[in-house]
Amino acid sequence: MLKPRPAANNAIEVTNLTKYYNGNIAVDGISFAVTKGSFFGFLGPNGAGKTTTVRMLTGVIQPNKGKALLSGLPAGSIEAKQISGVVPEMANPYIDISAWHNLMLMAELYGMPGNMAKERAGYWLHEMGLFPRKDNLVKEYSKGMKQRLILCMALLPDPQILFLDEPTSGLDVQSSRLIKDILRSLNAKGKTIFLTTHDMDEANQLCDYVAIINKGSLVAVDAPEKLKATTDSRHSVEVSFGNPIELDSLEKLAGVREVKKQGDKYRLYTNNSGQLAISLAKYSESNGLTLVSLNTLIPSLEDAFVALTDKEETDNG
Ligand SMILES: Nc1ncnc2c1ncn2[C@@H]1O[C@H](COP(=O)(O)OP(=O)(O)OP(=O)(O)O)[C@@H](O)[C@H]1O
Ligand SMILES: [Mg+2]
Repeated sequence: MLKPRPAANNAIEVTNLTKYYNGNIAVDGISFAVTKGSFFGFLGPNGAGKTTTVRMLTGVIQPNKGKALLSGLPAGSIEAKQISGVVPEMANPYIDISAWHNLMLMAELYGMPGNMAKERAGYWLHEMGLFPRKDNLVKEYSKGMKQRLILCMALLPDPQILFLDEPTSGLDVQSSRLIKDILRSLNAKGKTIFLTTHDMDEANQLCDYVAIINKGSLVAVDAPEKLKATTDSRHSVEVSFGNPIELDSLEKLAGVREVKKQGDKYRLYTNNSGQLAISLAKYSESNGLTLVSLNTLIPSLEDAFVALTDKEETDNG
């Protein structure tokens, strides 16, 4: 868990935050803090309560219990909205006007002087690779272009805290890489980033802290490397052969805890991946097989995530 820190250092402070929908609990009294300047990942399976949490933090909905502060200001207040930007899960720019026009409307909403609005809109459209298409109607934009525009709109007021609810979901490699690079450089300039994602690789690459939420409750808040370390029994070796083999014969190798077939590969879980890699090379040779690939893998954030969310499942019966 995050160590308690002086409140002045916290960009986000959540205490016992709770939300019910029609009597069903969606977010179950969660508490955590995000230090200013952090890149914070909020992870969890579908329906875990991520979007509900983001919506409470950005003032779209009211919690039933508990409170959230952004730099000490009550979430949802005008002051809190002025220091935060949001890329929601379902965001809708106006599609019958141009990207440029959308940005100018956004600037007006924030009471931004015209020159500043134009300068910032131009800057972010360039950064997002949209400038040449700025005068196109948004309905002519692809999904990836729309998402980049939404990010431009969120960044226009130069927020200190940026909330993003699965910003790269469904985007191609180039678009999502561009967005990730921009988020990294914003964070390097001191912005606090709160990112929900399903993509464990993304969280691993970007976040210095992650919280894992499952069925409305937090199951872990820690640095990704520390979470991985808690699942040290999940060391594994991934192997593929050029010939068909029996899965049982892999299960019988010394030190193997479990074998899973994954596409054209096998993943063998063990406590000693180095030793197992040697056994697999010998196994391949003595059975006259062609070894196509052999990789030792340390536990991934995904492994930690599955272990933590499965554990919850078992604990709850
Ligand atoms: N407007 C709503 N009315 C009723 N129930 C809702 C509403 N929004 C969310 N819920 C319920 O609250 C729970 C949490 O949903 P939420 O959208 O926060 O999950 P999520 O973690 O964002 O999931 P996903 O990964 O699918 O986006 C779910 O059980 C969902 O059905
Ligand atoms: Mg969601």
